[in-house]
Amino acid sequence: MKTQTYLFDPNSKAMNRMDYRPSEYLIPNTELHFDLDDAATVVHSKLSIAPNPASDKQGGPLILNGENMKLMAVKINGKPLDRADYTVTDHELIIKRPPSGEFTLEIENEIDPSSNTLLEGLYKSDGLLTTQCEAQGFRRITYYLDRPDILSSFKVTLEGDKDQYPTLLSNGNGDVTQTKDIGDNRHQITWVNPHPTPAYLFAIVAGELNMLEDTFTTKSGKEVKLRIFVEDGYENKIEWAMESLKRSMEWDEKAYGREYDLDVFHIVAVKGFNMGAMENKGLNIFNISLLAGDPDTTTDARLIAIEAVIGHEYFHNWSGNRVTVRDWFELTLKEGLTVLRDRQFTADMHSKASKDIEDAAIMEAGQFIEDGGPSAHPIRPDFVQEFDNIYSQTVYQKGSHVLGMMKTILGDDIWRKAMDEYFDRFDGQAVTCEDFVDVMEEVSGIDMTQFRRWYSQSGTPEIQYDGHYDAKAKTYTLTLKQKTPSTPDQQDKGALYIPVAVGLIGQDGKDIDLTLNTDNSASEKTKVLHLTEEEQTFTFTNVEGPVVPSVLRGFSAPVKITSDVSNEDLIFRMANDSDGYNRYSAAKTLMKKALINMADELASGSTPVMDPKILDAYDHILTHAMDGDMALSAMMLSMPSMNELVEAKVREGKADPLALDKVLDLARVSIRAKHAAHIENLYDTTSAPAGETYAVTPDQVGRRALHNTLLAYIAEVEDSLAINKAKKQFDTTDNMTERAHALSTLSRIHNAKTVEAKEALDTFYQTYKDDQNVVDNWLRVKAAIPGPDALENVKTLMKHEAFDIKNPNKVRALLGGFMSNAKAFHAEDGSGYTFMADQIIRLNGINPRMGAGLMRPFLQWNKYSDPHAGLMKAEIQRILKTPELAMGIKEFAQKALAMNDNSKSKAKGDAPSRKAG
Ligand code: BES
Ligand code: ZN
Repeated sequence: MKTQTYLFDPNSKAMNRMDYRPSEYLIPNTELHFDLDDAATVVHSKLSIAPNPASDKQGGPLILNGENMKLMAVKINGKPLDRADYTVTDHELIIKRPPSGEFTLEIENEIDPSSNTLLEGLYKSDGLLTTQCEAQGFRRITYYLDRPDILSSFKVTLEGDKDQYPTLLSNGNGDVTQTKDIGDNRHQITWVNPHPTPAYLFAIVAGELNMLEDTFTTKSGKEVKLRIFVEDGYENKIEWAMESLKRSMEWDEKAYGREYDLDVFHIVAVKGFNMGAMENKGLNIFNISLLAGDPDTTTDARLIAIEAVIGHEYFHNWSGNRVTVRDWFELTLKEGLTVLRDRQFTADMHSKASKDIEDAAIMEAGQFIEDGGPSAHPIRPDFVQEFDNIYSQTVYQKGSHVLGMMKTILGDDIWRKAMDEYFDRFDGQAVTCEDFVDVMEEVSGIDMTQFRRWYSQSGTPEIQYDGHYDAKAKTYTLTLKQKTPSTPDQQDKGALYIPVAVGLIGQDGKDIDLTLNTDNSASEKTKVLHLTEEEQTFTFTNVEGPVVPSVLRGFSAPVKITSDVSNEDLIFRMANDSDGYNRYSAAKTLMKKALINMADELASGSTPVMDPKILDAYDHILTHAMDGDMALSAMMLSMPSMNELVEAKVREGKADPLALDKVLDLARVSIRAKHAAHIENLYDTTSAPAGETYAVTPDQVGRRALHNTLLAYIAEVEDSLAINKAKKQFDTTDNMTERAHALSTLSRIHNAKTVEAKEALDTFYQTYKDDQNVVDNWLRVKAAIPGPDALENVKTLMKHEAFDIKNPNKVRALLGGFMSNAKAFHAEDGSGYTFMADQIIRLNGINPRMGAGLMRPFLQWNKYSDPHAGLMKAEIQRILKTPELAMGIKEFAQKALAMNDNSKSKAKGDAPSRKAG
């Protein structure tokens, strides 16, 4: 491996992947007893401790992790320990001279869930006591070896007041309906998890819950009790979740041969949760926003997301729980793999074409930006300051695409064989990405040496292609070049193994049969080219006439195509490419080019106009919008995201966010004006047919997506026609997909100043104010209303009964909604930046993980033109001066400030640099 130069100096506090050492001690058995109380829960822990034969050290002190708790007693082999025999710091309990051989350690400590606003460890969420232990939350419950390579058999006893905590849940087997009366209006239950499990998968939930019950019979005939628990008000909205769970269990048996391994499978929804959901063994805990849902309160996209997350957490039972990670640097081993599995699941349940495109869009509008910015890191990072920060799009999404490429290279059958072998070989172990790739290599016989670079190299590879048709020889040669630009964490990049799916489209718009001169496999319409060199030429034979190349079909690799393709070819592919992703991608590339041109015109003082040929091309999309997958048509009609435009713009200079926002508006208005009748007709035609019963089918989902997209176009002209159509859709539809969209459309017309918008916003809130998920949607819509008073509106909303800064969903809805409001967030006077920095500083003292999340848009500061860049930078500097700044926020702020002001020289060496071996 080459020597790497690191432009960002991971400071001395950064953890290094290479520092991994096996633990000196093991904990074969863990027995926990909880005396539950909102303000003072007492934990008794009884651990069997054994020396680890795999450790090179023996007989040293036993160092347990622990934070934020009161230690009451320590015993070894039943004998209280002398005060001189242990040390307690604010994050460790050190037993100075533990006995040799096996022994029992007993600890008693007290914790206060009610004051825990971090939502890590044991905390209070509305009426419930609940836990979150990944990545390092268990150490906030009791002293422990809190690392994922310590697997232990857990036995957990919970006791508490019957009225306050009627339902008592933990991991593993047990019967929730059978608690033991212990007098004094108290009861008790014991849960046994027979599978050795790391502490990050530990969970308990206690409180008043409603239960929906069902069963699933596994392929070997074992009956599993399925139970979903929610608080009052949501008990009639969990059928979709239960059906989704059964589909997940069935799918994992069919697609990966994975069967469930406990007698019960429990899911609980909580209202206060930092993430989407968590795969605790046998007791998944979900954010209520990703569990409760029905057609009246939940959009199509959300219902499909609920199914996907239920799938995701369920699939972790094998990819994560039975086979877990050795340390947190290996996170993509479980997350990348499980995201790949949930993507396959969703594709199988719904439309594969639109799922592929959505997943590509997540990469292009999100991960690519991360991978080119100050927090760039490989899918398996080498240096980390705060593990929270690597729960990133890179580790998750890019990680899943890296595995997707492996699947393409191995082929589906061998992939499945290799996966079986992986689960079989490492069942019950904590392993690494290396272990995974070793199995792939061994089972397939394919040399993956070069492919491994995807794990260690950050940055988005760029691919340029150039084609040449030789009429005499009837050959078409396609030259592919790859290059990965330097990133702040890593200067030198090597060539990657990239599978590039390619088709050639004939003049008649049809794919030709492809034969490569180098292989004698059967001809196909799409061929996967194995690009391994920096530059490589592929020759197709028997090509009868000129062709248009269609490169990176189905987004076969997480790369950017940077060739300058002519508008003509893009328009041709947009209409003819048989590959859905590439049709979409052609439309988006074309629109990006048009928008950047318009922004340049605006900057030079002239009135921007959209190229008429590009405008005309939308006629084809509209004419054929209902021919195939309507969801795809809707995506082709949507504008590129602000993020993507900024990325496109910085290739030539700084981005002015307000100018980009303006041309986005202009482009929509131009399309609306040019295709007025077409859009209005199609909007009417895509209304729900009379008598249709709502269902989440590709047809209906696609139709509603298209219908909504067209409504938004109609509302680009803010006249009474638009108001009436949006109002009518709002008043008459039977589902949330069309209602919520009508509401946001209506509220964008005249910045929600119309009577119709005000009425609709009020009605919406009054109708749904008991459902937190819908209210959050309302907050987001309100925060996204443009106009000069946007910031004042958001400040007022922060005092509304519907807002609570301690609730992550509300923070995401209101403050996330505000940051997507480009005119307000990027206001010329910097007021939007100052406001958000204030919120981040406030969250530092409440829930720093949320605060760090809100930093992400600031990481892009140096891509913007002044005054934006300077104003954002000043706010980052102010954040960095906050006393007791949490590591996650600090890490982002420092990395952001290490970026150069002039983006062009970002690869040059005036930033701190360091050599790493
Ligand atoms: N293991 C994570 C959840 C998690 C990570 C909780 C870090 C706390 C800290 C879980 O499996 C997960 O990945 N959840 C995702 C949703 C998923 C569908 C990608 C989430 O919560 O966003
Ligand atoms: Zn996950």
